[in-house]
Amino acid sequence: MPPVRVGILGLGTVGGGVVNVLRRNADQITRRCGRRIDIIHAAARRLDAPRICALDGILLTTDPMSVVENPEVDIVVEVMGGLNPAHALIERALTLGKPVVTANKALLAHEGNALFELAEARGTMVAFEAAVAGGVPIIKAIREGLAANRIEWLAGIINGTGNFILTAMRDAGRSFADVLAEAQALGYAEADPTFDVEGIDAAHKLTILAAIAFGMPLKFEGVYTEGLSKLQTEDVRYARELGYQIKQLGIARRHDNGVELRVHPTLIPERRLLANVDGVKNAVLVWADAVGSTLYYGAGAGAEPTASAVVADLVDVVRTLTADPTHRVPHLAVVPSQITDLPVLPISAVTTGYYLRLMVLDQPGVLANIARVLADHGINIEAMIQKEASPETQHLPIVLLTHPLQEAVMDRAISALESLDSVQLPIVRIRVESLAG
Ligand code: NDP
Ligand code: HSE
Repeated sequence: MPPVRVGILGLGTVGGGVVNVLRRNADQITRRCGRRIDIIHAAARRLDAPRICALDGILLTTDPMSVVENPEVDIVVEVMGGLNPAHALIERALTLGKPVVTANKALLAHEGNALFELAEARGTMVAFEAAVAGGVPIIKAIREGLAANRIEWLAGIINGTGNFILTAMRDAGRSFADVLAEAQALGYAEADPTFDVEGIDAAHKLTILAAIAFGMPLKFEGVYTEGLSKLQTEDVRYARELGYQIKQLGIARRHDNGVELRVHPTLIPERRLLANVDGVKNAVLVWADAVGSTLYYGAGAGAEPTASAVVADLVDVVRTLTADPTHRVPHLAVVPSQITDLPVLPISAVTTGYYLRLMVLDQPGVLANIARVLADHGINIEAMIQKEASPETQHLPIVLLTHPLQEAVMDRAISALESLDSVQLPIVRIRVESLAG
């Protein structure tokens, strides 16, 4: 068979990794898909910039549309990122009937429904394993490996940069800004790192995971998102004293009346494997009815881990090039006519445990008042620690863990607690997940 010819849009961290992995493992890859995969045309913004890969034999351009429209290019790999011009380029490739491999979770979360529809109409496909959890083959695991199951929920650490920052702050006491700069230098962070820090990148990925887990359309606008930037080191410390780690989790859970989709810092019991996923590693825990819980773990970002997923997609695409389009793995795991538009529930409807930290005046009756407010709202306290007053403010921290309850009830209880004269504003609230089956 003649080689398959690839055009690549972007030669940065991921694009450079793809070129390197494809070249280094060319023989293995050829044996796996029966044809050689050659990159023949590549686009970047700067033609003279230093690259992590050799570019001999590849035609270079600053015009990505010329790569897409090159009649010699059979498959387009989009690893430039951002919504535009990536959107127009992928649309054009699909319109031309060319399969697309992309790592662009932001674009898929916003435009994936229409892009998948266009691909299906043109008898081609969009492959996107690298868009979630870097090198971890979570899309394949859910769409294919768990196809027998009804997936009830999943919870994952799905942003490598955020987890890298949290781990370094916890273990080395390093500042947020310093660790973020390192994550950027290592190529882990998004072009706009607030996407990593504020949970937006994780929300993009959760949108994709929920769609393939539940066979629903992509609904990014429904994801409740809280970032890491407000997290304080004392809460990380108190959580550990209570036997928990704080991780930024993306959680998707199916209910009779819809699905909950949320990304936020979360207390996880230390004994759970997810609580021990550190650095740039990602992990996704999936609970499905037949198999129970399964866990997928690996590097969540970086040149070669992400290239591993992009090249695996290329191999899949090459293997399916001659297959009937209606018999390929569906984009969102179920055949297009069977996608069900599930409502996304508001965060106020979610049931979870809570960690609360209240800064209170050191006065008689304070604890009794807090206990009374919680009891009035039917809230059960699971654990409580009282720390010494800070010498500057004379406020002492009271840290509470509650049994699970509905967020709307907790909102009302927090308002009532914040109206007590002895309680300083604001009360810190972090959600707790036991992650038990
Ligand atoms: P980089 O910023 O390292 O690379 C982007 C590349 O695209 C650069 O080579 C850049 O050119 C090129 N580019 C950008 N805009 C244009 C344009 N208008 N025309 C031509 N070339 C352009 O990004 P990453 O490799 O880190 O990320 C790429 C994609 O992969 C993103 O969607 C990201 O979210 C996703 N991703 C990234 C991971 C990672 O670990 N970094 C992991 C998983 C997914 P130049 O080099 O000349 O500036
Ligand atoms: N910025 C992303 C992360 C890249 O840190 O997880 C991988 O998607």
